[in-house]
Amino acid sequence: MTNISVIGLGFVGLPLLISISKKKKLFSNIIGIESNNSKGRKRVAEINNIKKKSLFTDNKLNKILINNLNHLTISNDFKVASNSDFIFFCLPLNIDKNLNTNFKNYYDLIKKYYLISKKNSIFILNSTINPGFTSKILKMLKKEKIFRKDIFFVYYPERVTPGINYYKSIVYSHKVFSSNSNKFVSRKIKKLFSQIFDTKNFKLTEFKKYEEAECVKVLENSYRASNIALIEEWGVFAEEFRIDLFSILNAIKFRSTHSNIMRPGLGVGGYCLTKDPFFVKLSSKEFLKNKVKFPFINLTMDINSKMHLRTINKIKKIIKFKKRIKKILILGLSYAENVDDLRNSKSLDIVDEIKKLKSSIEIYDPVVKIKNYHGIKIIKKIKDFNMYDLLILNVKHSKFEKVNFKNIKSNMTIVDTNNVLSIKNIDILFKKGIDLNVVGRGDL
Ligand SMILES: NC(=O)c1ccc[n+]([C@@H]2O[C@H](COP(=O)([O-])OP(=O)(O)OC[C@H]3O[C@@H](n4cnc5c(N)ncnc54)[C@H](O)[C@@H]3O)[C@@H](O)[C@H]2O)c1
Repeated sequence: MTNISVIGLGFVGLPLLISISKKKKLFSNIIGIESNNSKGRKRVAEINNIKKKSLFTDNKLNKILINNLNHLTISNDFKVASNSDFIFFCLPLNIDKNLNTNFKNYYDLIKKYYLISKKNSIFILNSTINPGFTSKILKMLKKEKIFRKDIFFVYYPERVTPGINYYKSIVYSHKVFSSNSNKFVSRKIKKLFSQIFDTKNFKLTEFKKYEEAECVKVLENSYRASNIALIEEWGVFAEEFRIDLFSILNAIKFRSTHSNIMRPGLGVGGYCLTKDPFFVKLSSKEFLKNKVKFPFINLTMDINSKMHLRTINKIKKIIKFKKRIKKILILGLSYAENVDDLRNSKSLDIVDEIKKLKSSIEIYDPVVKIKNYHGIKIIKKIKDFNMYDLLILNVKHSKFEKVNFKNIKSNMTIVDTNNVLSIKNIDILFKKGIDLNVVGRGDL
């Protein structure tokens, strides 16, 4: 029977491992490997302690992990993976705006497994990488004269959506891959994916070249990032022009051709959209001598990196102008709803900036795992909203939907940076004469 390993048990690797564990009868060994440092060891302990503390807002993942933990090997020793038929690499390839990467670390890690892996094993690169990356790895292995004809590479970009439908987004979603037209490998991947994922109802697209599959993730995230950047300037316009951009977007969304138009908000955070569009620029630099310049992506990334500053300035002005604002509550710290991921969260920037104004701040976030941020306590329950003078709503966690604003004091100030308030709550607050500031709504 088949042995499978997943390397890197972060936001992508662990849910994937859990999804594989659900099909445990089909595989003899299912192995998850973390780095052998204090962070990696802590992660392994956290996974093994799942019964005591849940790890995901999607309870399905917690339950599957608890039920199948006995069938999993979770280790910090990379050698445990040496007998694997398939190895998924779920590690981050970082890139910054100057196109610096941690490629060397990534390559060294692959090499480590390459040298100890058994014959006919298939390495599945699951990370978001720059087009041309997989072929470059093969070239480097050849250059080092360690290339093996009996180990194969597949590129398979991850399209997971963390949050309440985390598990569903892995198993029930359209996927793409490329084995660079190796028929033997392609057959094996199709069989494996049909065992783990629902490939009957969701399309599995195979690309002839690695480079094409590599482009899928980079282009889809560049598209999403540009869509957000476009709406940002409309948000500025709507606020100045005193109109409600959300009602306009809702009317547009009725057209099926425009249903995924983005909305204004706090800004682009998270790990992926803040870096992925840079990958194609790196490919142009590495493989095309910078022939294609990507001005559109440059503009997108520039707009998105500054978007939150507009809201921060607005909040600072409110605090400076309204001297009676003493106590502030920030609702939501993560970069998106129902996730505990704090990477590049613009809510952190808001906290950092208003902290400088010496007001008393508390943070409410029922989802994130940290207990305090830069010395500010993160509370898990709100005793009474009326203890605060200013509420800054940053993240639309599901738990916020039940909040009732009926009894809120009339001299409260509220800033909704990210479409957190429902239309019903906006109406209630507006009628109460609350000082209400909603990004994208100039009509209030
Ligand atoms: N987070 C998402 O929603 C998402 C979605 C789609 C694609 N991706 C892509 O998937 C990749 C992984 O992203 P992520 O969010 O899971 O990153 P992550 O940082 O959450 O996870 C990576 C994990 O790898 C571990 N690790 C580091 N070095 C290791 C080593 N030598 N051996 C074993 N484990 C090691 C880290 O400790 C960490 O737990 C990235 O390329 C990312 O762009 C992420």
